[in-house]
Amino acid sequence: MKLKHHISFSNLNSPMDPEKPYLEPCIHDYDPQALITLLKSHLPHSVPLLRRLQHGLAYPSSTSRILTTFSGADAPVSPWLAAHVDLFTGGETQIVIYSSLEAQTTSPFTERDGVSTLLAPPEILGQARAQLLTLLSHIKAELLPVYLSSIQPVGPTPNSSSPVLNPASSQPGLIPPPPGAFFIGNLHTGLFSLLKASGEYSHPDPVPGLRIHRFNNPPYVKYLFRGHQFVSPGSASAPLPAGYRFTDKTGRLGVQSHHLDLIRSRTSIPRSRETLNKLPGAPIYSDRETQPHPSDSSGAADNPHDRSAVGEMPIAWAFLGVDGSLATLHVEPEYRGQGLAMAVAQEAMRLGMAEGGIWRDHGEEGEVWVHTNALESNIASRRVMEKLGAEPAWTCTWTVLEWDL
Ligand SMILES: CC(C)(COP(=O)(O)OP(=O)(O)OC[C@H]1O[C@@H](n2cnc3c(N)ncnc32)[C@H](O)[C@@H]1OP(=O)(O)O)[C@@H](O)C(=O)NCCC(=O)NCCS
Repeated sequence: MKLKHHISFSNLNSPMDPEKPYLEPCIHDYDPQALITLLKSHLPHSVPLLRRLQHGLAYPSSTSRILTTFSGADAPVSPWLAAHVDLFTGGETQIVIYSSLEAQTTSPFTERDGVSTLLAPPEILGQARAQLLTLLSHIKAELLPVYLSSIQPVGPTPNSSSPVLNPASSQPGLIPPPPGAFFIGNLHTGLFSLLKASGEYSHPDPVPGLRIHRFNNPPYVKYLFRGHQFVSPGSASAPLPAGYRFTDKTGRLGVQSHHLDLIRSRTSIPRSRETLNKLPGAPIYSDRETQPHPSDSSGAADNPHDRSAVGEMPIAWAFLGVDGSLATLHVEPEYRGQGLAMAVAQEAMRLGMAEGGIWRDHGEEGEVWVHTNALESNIASRRVMEKLGAEPAWTCTWTVLEWDL
C-alpha cells in the first residue's frame, strides 16, 4: 500500500541534484521472504531486523506489518528503509527499523566516541530522515487508530498523560508508553540522531513535530558474535563445572514453562510469558537446588505431590529474543563467578541457532551472526560478551516517541 499523503521536509533536506531528482518517500507493504533475502545481503548490520522477520515467519502475528520505502517492482536504491511493525506487543518493542545506510556508512563503536554515526553526505542523510519521518507518519495514520481502538483506557480519557494498559502490559513495575507513542528498539544511534534537529545524538531538541519521551544516553553497545563456533555440526554444550547440568533430572533440555515466573521476576525488561514461550532458552540446574522455587506460581512449592511433575528450577538462564539477540542472561547471585554466564549464553546460541530452527534453514551456509546489547555501564555483561569472542560493532537505542504531524 502506498502512503497517500507525502510529507515535505524541504527545510530539513539539502538542495537536490537536478540531474537526480529526489523522490519523496512512499511507504509500501512488503513481502517478508523477499525482504529477508535482501537483508541477508546486508549482514551483519541488518541482523536485528532480519532475525525479527524470521521470528515473525515462525510465529505469525495478524497485527504485524512489514513496511519499506520501496515496492516489489523497484530495485531498492540506497538510501532505503525497512521496518517490522507490531503495535500490539503489550509493552515490548513495537518497531524495528533498518536503513541501508547502516551497512555502508556506520562508524564503529569506540570507547572514545561512544556513539556510532552514519557517515553520509548531508543530502543522503536528509533523504534518510525524510524516510524515517514518513514511516512514522504512515504508522500513525494507518496502524495507530486500530491499535488505539483495541486497548482499554485506564482513567477517563486516553491521552499522552494517561497511560493505557492492555492485558499483556499489566505487569507490575512496567510503565507502558503513552498510547499514541511508539516503542522502537535496536535503533541505530545514527538513525536516531536524524530525529534530532541538529543531527546530534544527545541534542535536546527533536525535529519539529516529534516528541521523544525517552532514549538511552549513553546508548547500548551492539555486540556481534560469529556464531559458527557455537553451532557448527555436532557442536556440544559448553563444559560445566561439577554439580551443574543443562538438563533437568528427567533429561529435558531448554527452559520450561514453570520457570517463566522466576525468570520474569529477575528482570525489569518486559517480556510476557507468551513471548518467552516463543523463544529458545537455555537453563542451568544445580545439584544443590532441586525443589521448586518459592516464586514459582504453580503452587508446586507447597505441594509435595506436584513437585516431581513440575520439575526443578534453574539457577541461570539465557534466551535468544524475538530479534535473535542474546537476551535475559542471568545467573543467581550465589552462583556467580564460576563461568556459568558464559556457558549458558553459549548454550542459548547453540539451541537457538540450530539448523532447521527459527533463524537458520537446513543446509544454510555462511556466518551465523548473533547479536546482543549491553549498556556501556554494564561492565559484567560486556566482559562476558567479550570473553565469548563478541566484538563491539555499533551503538543503538530503545526509544519511546510520538509523532504529532
Ligand atoms: C552478568 C552476569 C550474567 C555474569 O554472571 P557470572 O556467572 O558471574 O559470569 P561468569 O562467571 O561466566 O564470568 C565471565 C567473565 O566475566 C567476568 N565478570 C563477571 N561478572 C563481572 C563483574 N561484575 N565485573 C567484571 N567482570 C565480571 C568474569 O570475571 C569472567 O571473566 P574472567 O574469566 O576473565 O574472570 C551476572 O552478574 C548477572 O546475572 N547479572 C545480573 C543480570 C545482568 O546484568 N545480565 C546481563 C544483561 S545482558
